[in-house]
Amino acid sequence: MRKNLIMEAKKDKKIVLSGIRSTGNLHLGNYYGALSKFVRMQDDYDCRFFIADLHALTTHPDPKMLHTNVKDIIAEYLAAGLDPEKNVLYVQSDVPEISEMYLLMNMHVGIGELMRTASFKDKARKALGITSDGDEIEKEIIGNQTNQRVNAGLLTYPTLMAVDILIHHADFVPVGKDQEQHLELTRRFARRFNSFYGVDYFGEPVNFNFGGEAVKVPGLDGSGKMGKSEGNCIYLIDDEKTLRKKVMRAVTDEGPKEPNSPVSQPVENLFTLMNLVSGQEVVDHYRKAYADCSIRYGDMKKQLAEDILKVTLPIRERILDIRENDEYISKVVRSGAERAREVAAKTLREVREIMGIRKF
Ligand code: TRP
Repeated sequence: MRKNLIMEAKKDKKIVLSGIRSTGNLHLGNYYGALSKFVRMQDDYDCRFFIADLHALTTHPDPKMLHTNVKDIIAEYLAAGLDPEKNVLYVQSDVPEISEMYLLMNMHVGIGELMRTASFKDKARKALGITSDGDEIEKEIIGNQTNQRVNAGLLTYPTLMAVDILIHHADFVPVGKDQEQHLELTRRFARRFNSFYGVDYFGEPVNFNFGGEAVKVPGLDGSGKMGKSEGNCIYLIDDEKTLRKKVMRAVTDEGPKEPNSPVSQPVENLFTLMNLVSGQEVVDHYRKAYADCSIRYGDMKKQLAEDILKVTLPIRERILDIRENDEYISKVVRSGAERAREVAAKTLREVREIMGIRKF
């Protein structure tokens, strides 16, 4: 009864779908790129959020850890404020309809377009130990006789992601900047499916950023974005001491030598992080101190650590609590799977029909 009421109230709302791969604990990049947006959307949209454990398999996690990783992320979702009464929260592998539709959708996906996807190239290069940016990876992938393989799951990662989204007929997909190419492919596959079968079945989902740009959260190592594989992360689960230590060790430079010097990338990264967690006055203060050369990076980092902790410590405490409560976690996940499967089964039924698959 209660479930029906929720469904009823959400009926006219736009559908939101997003997920995070279960490859380790969530970090500030996941939080600002995705999770905090999920939390802000849950009242106004019909939201479905999931844990992409099948996507995690593309990089071969330790089977002993897979389940724990999924559990940790559920606890992190809930601790960050996702309400299982307001949203459908589920685990990807609990919805087998996704896997079947992935097989069907692959019939309309070109291997060339998959091989040109940036995330695939990155991962393929890593798998083959290629360090240059050149185009030799295609030859390497086909010709490689060693046991360094690029698995087909990695190649078809965007198909699976498109299915995650299309199986819900999602309108909005809140994700970080790094996922925009995957979203573009999703729209392309949707259009192709429609035009191949002469139907107007799938819509074209778009990113959602509350009017701003997609957020890119930098790491602490002075280079690119914060990422699990980069080892430059601040995790929601980091304790106070660990977190302060990481921030104090963040890469900077020698400091400005003359007024209004350009800001180097590593220092700009700290400002970007500060923009996310600190008040405007604090950011202005350090911008000004940089411009007039009075800045001390040690002070700036102390302040930054302080402001990050204000965000993460309350979440950390809730994560630790929720992790203890197995019964609650499995209740949330089971009810989420049930609701997600209802939607997924309907889409799959319709897709099979459109494609001409019929029962005897
Ligand atoms: N590829 C996403 C990431 O790495 C995770 C993901 C899988 C996803 N399926 C999705 C995100 C569907 C949004 C919608 O972060």
